[in-house]
Amino acid sequence: MPQNIKKRIDELRKQLNKHGRLYYTRGAPAISDSEYDEILRELERLEKYHPEFMSPDSPTRKVGRAVRDGYSKVSHTSPMLSLGSVHSAEECRKFDATSRKEIGASKVDYACEPKLDGLSVELVYENGIFVRGATRGDGLVGEDVTENIRTIRNVPKKLTGKNPPELIAVRGEVLMHIRDFQELNKRQISMGKTPFANPRNAAAGSLRQLDFKITAERKLDVYCYGILEYSCDMPDTQEEAARLISEFGLKTAPDALYCRTIDDAVKYHHELEAKRDDLDYEIDGVVIKVNRFAFQQKLGMRTTNPRWAVAYKFKPRKEITRIEEIIVQVGRTGILTPVALLQPVEVGGVTVSRATLHNMDEIARLDVRIGDYVKIHRAGDVIPKVIEVISAKRTWKEKVFHMPEKCPSCGSVLEKEDVHYRCPGGFTCPAQVKEAITHYVSRSAADIEGLSDRTVQQLYEEGLAGSIADIYSLRREDILKLEGWKEKKTDNLLSAIDASKTITLDRFMFGLGIRNVGQHIASVIAARFGSLNAIMRSSSDELMEIKEIGPEIAESVITFFHDKKNVKQIEALVDAGVHVIQKTSKGKFSGKKVIFTGSLGSFSRSEAKKLVESEGGEIASSVSSDVDFVVAGEKAGSKLDAARKKNIPVLTEKEFLKLTDQPSARARG
Ligand code: IVH
Repeated sequence: MPQNIKKRIDELRKQLNKHGRLYYTRGAPAISDSEYDEILRELERLEKYHPEFMSPDSPTRKVGRAVRDGYSKVSHTSPMLSLGSVHSAEECRKFDATSRKEIGASKVDYACEPKLDGLSVELVYENGIFVRGATRGDGLVGEDVTENIRTIRNVPKKLTGKNPPELIAVRGEVLMHIRDFQELNKRQISMGKTPFANPRNAAAGSLRQLDFKITAERKLDVYCYGILEYSCDMPDTQEEAARLISEFGLKTAPDALYCRTIDDAVKYHHELEAKRDDLDYEIDGVVIKVNRFAFQQKLGMRTTNPRWAVAYKFKPRKEITRIEEIIVQVGRTGILTPVALLQPVEVGGVTVSRATLHNMDEIARLDVRIGDYVKIHRAGDVIPKVIEVISAKRTWKEKVFHMPEKCPSCGSVLEKEDVHYRCPGGFTCPAQVKEAITHYVSRSAADIEGLSDRTVQQLYEEGLAGSIADIYSLRREDILKLEGWKEKKTDNLLSAIDASKTITLDRFMFGLGIRNVGQHIASVIAARFGSLNAIMRSSSDELMEIKEIGPEIAESVITFFHDKKNVKQIEALVDAGVHVIQKTSKGKFSGKKVIFTGSLGSFSRSEAKKLVESEGGEIASSVSSDVDFVVAGEKAGSKLDAARKKNIPVLTEKEFLKLTDQPSARARG
C-alpha cells in the first residue's frame, strides 16, 4: 500500500513538473489552471497524510506555484492596434495610392521601421518614473508585467531630462538578441531542458514569468516605436515621436529610415531583407507608417488595424528538403546533439546543408527518420532546425536513427542525463577540448581574431594545441608550417594572442565555459567578487546573494572550481602569462559605449578593444543612440554614416589616441 502511494506521489510530481515547465519556460500550457490545481491538491493531500514521502523539491514546496493564479490585468492607456500585411512592392504602391487619395495629398512621406519579431508591450511613465509595463493582450487589456520589465536593464526606471511629462505611455517590442538567445538555449540544453524554438518564444517565455527573478536571469531588450499617450503636445510626425522617445532615454527601433516616397520605402525593405542575417535581432518585415500624425488621423482605422500603416513582410525562411544522414556532434560540455545532414537547399537566400535535431526526445516527438522529407526553418544566425516531417512523402524505407553507445570522438561509453546523452570524456575527449578552446578564444571571451573553429581544429590535429593554455605557447615557425599560413596571417594571429593575455575578469569567467554561466552571469559574478581568487573561494550562499543567481547556477560555479582539472587549467593559463584584470568603473571610458569602424593604423582591433575595456568602457555592436562615440579609421563605411545620421560624436584615430594618452605610433606585435 505505501508503495502504491509513493508511486502515485511520484507520478503527480512528475506531471506537475512537466506542466509547470510547459507553462513557465515555454509559455505553452498543455492543461488548464484548474486541472493543474486539482493535481496539486491531490499531491498536497497525499503528502500531508504521508509526510515520510515529503521531499524538499516537491512542486508543493515551490514558490512559483503560489502565483499561478496569474497576472493582474491592466487596461491600456489607448488601444494597442495590430497591423495589416502586404507581401509585394505592388501592394505597397496600392497602399500609397489609396492613402494619397483619402488624404487628398499628392505626396505622402513614410516612417519605415524594422518589424521587430518580439512581444509587444506598453511602458507607462508618470512624472518621469516607470510605473507600469503591460503585454498587449487583446489590444485593450493586457497582463501586468511591471516587475518583469523592471528587470530589463535597458528600460530606464526614470526618464532622462529635467522636465518629465506628467504621463507618457510608449509602445515597444520586448525581444531577445540572437546571441543571448543562442546562449540561453545552450544553457537550456545543458540543463536538460527543451530549447526555445526561436528568439520570440524565448522573449515571451522569459518575460511572462510569474517569478520575475527568472526574467532577470534572461537577457531581454526593449525597442520602442510609438507613443500611445502623452500629456504634453504630441509631435507632428512619427519621425519626431521616435526622436522624442529616444531623448527620454528609451531605446528606439534601430535601423529605422525616414522615406520621402513609397519607392524609397520599398527600397528600404529590400535592403533590410538583404541585411537581415547581419542583424543581431530578429525581424520579419518592415513597418511602413504614414509619417504625419494629421494624415494618420485622416486615414483612421479598420476594426483592429490602422489604415495608415502596413507590415511589408519578408520571404519566409522555411523550406522542404530531404535528410540524407543523421550524425552526432559532441559539444563543449560533452552533450551529444543529433544533426541532420540535408540535401542542400536555399532558405531565404542562404544554402543550408545541416539542421539541428536537438536530442533524442525531439527526434521521437517529430518521428523523424533518415531519408525523410522535412520542413526546416532558418532564423538569422540561429542554426537551422527541423520543424516537421512531411509525412505524405514518406516511403517507409526511411531508417530510424539510434544514438551510438560510444562517443564518436573519444569512444567513451555515453551516459544518459535527462533528455541528453553525454560523453564523460571531458579533457580526454578531443571534441570537447576543441570546443572548449573555440569557446575560450571566441569574441565574447578572449576574442582572439584569426582563431576560427577551423583553425582550432587544425592546431589541435597537428598537435599544436591540446589545451586552452597551449594557445599561448604557439611558435611562429610551427604555425608557418601549417597549410594556408603565410607570414602576415601568422604574425596577426600571434599579436592577437599576445593582446588577449590581458583579459577582463568577466570575459575570462565566460571563456572558462562553466555550465550555465553565460556572458551576463559571468559579468555579474565578476562585478560582485572583483577577482578570480575571490570567485574561486566563493560559497554557494555568497553566489546566491546576487540577484540573478539561483541554486542551479551557483552549483555549476562551485562544481567547476572544485574540479582539480579546471583549477590546473587556470593555473596553466596564468603561468602562460594570462593576466586577469577587473573592469574598472573609474577608467577614462567608464560607462561609455564605443564603436570602432574602418581600419586602424596604430592598433589592432582587439588591442583597441582591450584598451577601452580596461578603462571601464564597452564596445557596442551596432550604432544605436546609446553609443557615446565612434572611432573612425580609414575606409570607414556604413557605421560611420549611421553615426553621423544619429549625431553621435565621431573621433579620428588620432583624437582617440589623445584621449587614451597612448603614444600614437605604437609598434604592433
Ligand atoms: S506599429 C498601429 N511598429 O508588429 C501600429 N509594430 O503585426 C501598431 N511590431 O503587434 C504597431 N515592430 O508587436 C509597429 N516598428 C514597429 C513594429 C511593430 C514590430 C509588431 C507589433 C504589432 C505587430 C503587428
